[in-house]
Amino acid sequence: MKPAKIISASLTVLTLAMVSSCTGSEQAKDPAEAKVEKLLSLMTIDEKIGQMSQLDPGTLGSDENLKKAVRDGRLGSLLNYFGTKEVNEIQRIAVEESRLGIPLLIGRDVIHGYKTIFPIPLGMAASWNPGLVKGAFRIAAEEASSQGIKWTFAPMIDITWDPRWGRIAEGCGEDPFLASAMAAAMVHGIQGDSLSDPASMAACAKHYAGYGFSEGGRDYNTTYITEPVLRNVVLKPFKAARDAGALTFMSAFNDLNGIPASGNEFTLRQILRDEWHFDGFVVSDWASVTEMVSHGYAVDEKDAAAKAINAGVDMEMATTSYFDNIKILLAEKKITQKQIDNAVRSILKVKFRLGLFENPYTDPDAARKILDPSFLEHARTMARQSAVLLKNDKNILPLNRSIGSVAVSGPLADAPRDQLGTWCFDGNAANSVTPLKAISDFLGKEKVNFAPGLGYSRDRSEKGFDQALKTAERSDAVIFFAGEEWILSGEGQSRGEINLPGAQDELISLLDKTRIPLIVVIMAGRPLAIGRLLEEADAVIYAWHGGTMAGPAIADLIFGIESPSGKLPVTFIKGSGQIPFYYYRNNTGRPATPGSWTPIDSIPVENPQSSLGYKSFWLDYGYTPLLPFGFGLSYTTFEYSDLSLSDLSMPMNGKLIIKASVQNTGKMDGDEIAQLYLRDRVGSITRPVRELKGFKRIHLEKGEKTEVVFELTSEDLAFFNGKITAAEPGEFDVWIGPDSSNGLHGEFILEK
Ligand code: NOJ
Repeated sequence: MKPAKIISASLTVLTLAMVSSCTGSEQAKDPAEAKVEKLLSLMTIDEKIGQMSQLDPGTLGSDENLKKAVRDGRLGSLLNYFGTKEVNEIQRIAVEESRLGIPLLIGRDVIHGYKTIFPIPLGMAASWNPGLVKGAFRIAAEEASSQGIKWTFAPMIDITWDPRWGRIAEGCGEDPFLASAMAAAMVHGIQGDSLSDPASMAACAKHYAGYGFSEGGRDYNTTYITEPVLRNVVLKPFKAARDAGALTFMSAFNDLNGIPASGNEFTLRQILRDEWHFDGFVVSDWASVTEMVSHGYAVDEKDAAAKAINAGVDMEMATTSYFDNIKILLAEKKITQKQIDNAVRSILKVKFRLGLFENPYTDPDAARKILDPSFLEHARTMARQSAVLLKNDKNILPLNRSIGSVAVSGPLADAPRDQLGTWCFDGNAANSVTPLKAISDFLGKEKVNFAPGLGYSRDRSEKGFDQALKTAERSDAVIFFAGEEWILSGEGQSRGEINLPGAQDELISLLDKTRIPLIVVIMAGRPLAIGRLLEEADAVIYAWHGGTMAGPAIADLIFGIESPSGKLPVTFIKGSGQIPFYYYRNNTGRPATPGSWTPIDSIPVENPQSSLGYKSFWLDYGYTPLLPFGFGLSYTTFEYSDLSLSDLSMPMNGKLIIKASVQNTGKMDGDEIAQLYLRDRVGSITRPVRELKGFKRIHLEKGEKTEVVFELTSEDLAFFNGKITAAEPGEFDVWIGPDSSNGLHGEFILEK
């Protein structure tokens, strides 16, 4: 058997890479290189160390110290320094008063919007709409760059299988294919068509690598990831970001198989530089260099600096171990001059590519473009397409606009800061349009009866219950806004139990008993275990933390201006005990099947040991998740038919066309996301039960039918088996369908 060699990971990534403004091969011919060499030849060692250092303005104690460091060429980058006037002044010092006039690179966390806040990235991934996501990041870049920010620490593309991990909010979910498509879209949005466009910023693919696998979902924790999982899952979106031209990468906090990510030569040198030929620069995460001392991987900060430099971290964020130790380390021959020169080269090249040397200043008039109405409209569309309809009994939604009155209830109904979500330094709650406001605007205030019932998501007091119930009883429907406050997800904000906090479940149960139609909208930073409310409520929409325009977007969906169209980017579990539980798991030797599961309460007392059948399930959860990856309903219905494959077998260097028809069989126009899944039945290592290999968002008017067409080559079937990356001949299953547990099934053979 002769395995096929891999060129690219996926269909979507390949297409996006082709339109990239800065692909790998273009990087190699970069005209900035000659200028970099010239500058490098003029630099002192102190100036080189300066370029390798990034600080928060607070670190140097005073503004005067900061200005002096910049003037002396001892600082190449700042984070958390912004405002057009302030940035222009510090930049003026760098450009006009430092010896070589090297401009500063100003970075900031602009993760899902700057002032116009979009849904959390996990929500954006639920749109399965890379084009829309690219647009959102373009707007974020336009707004942030107008304030002097030329580098954002985004996209955050850590795959995770653990919804307890608070940072699941910031990433694109569990699936490498979807996350890769999102990663590329985000990089293209941030960096724009031209890097030197004043409205473009440098992207930073983070956190490289493995951070999303923090054990137990506890932030900053150790990770153990086998090389096949690393290459087939974790690294896929990073490769996509690199192929899309991401100028920078951030090394993560976690230790990976015993070696901290910020001192990891395998991921940073072997994979990123030698295999992927990345020629941007790597910045550490905040203090992740010096934290190698706590990890027990470095004796002291000097040793940590040596390890980070040897591994390939070009710039240190927030701490000063480079600043303090590089000269000593050079004298002791623990690091080489060549390593320092290469790091500085990479950093300067990025500054040249961003046009900072020609145009270091920020146009103060550009600031007018903040919160532009067109930006807000984009945020509304993004929030609308991110929301996922999970249940709609008896087509209770959409509500008729001529409804008599509605009760608006729940702790998230009017929580302007919470709806912005985590990692939102610059968004302003005053700009948020809450669901309460949007529904009142839509129906008229007189038709809206507001009684939150609970003051905030963790509220356990039942004081407000009575009023909420009475208010429900005099209304024609209840819309309950459940979820989590923003502070319960994000960095350092992991949870052990991922149920609805506070007394929300109790209040929802009481509202359910009133028999008034009950619609629950969930606004949260993670996929919560919502089994109980999913049974009780008549309709459920999962709206994540939807950003500035979450309210109008939700109102649009509730009143049927548009049908919900998002699909889950992550498996929804029944309870924390199921974690990790993701759709592309490998089969066990004893897979459970319908009927092979004995629920805990049905086991007769003193039954014999063998009575439960020795299958792979949980006595309390069974063997299925609450909702599968890719799931999402619509107000209309879609029917899949006529799956066809261009051939029953595919030559190793050939291609296969897979088609199916999708028809809108319901009563409303709507979008469907058709998904292509594969299963490689037998491999040299065990293979997942399903893997996403393509998706298409299609708009169908009622009654309309269309054909979705996917093309596969052996590259799309390839995987890393512990030794090589290759497609292996044999039998494959293929599905085209609405989610990861349904679809039309076909099969084909990959020839030798
Ligand atoms: C730490 C976070 O892990 C990272 O995502 C962020 O970009 C930096 N701090 C800078 O704020």
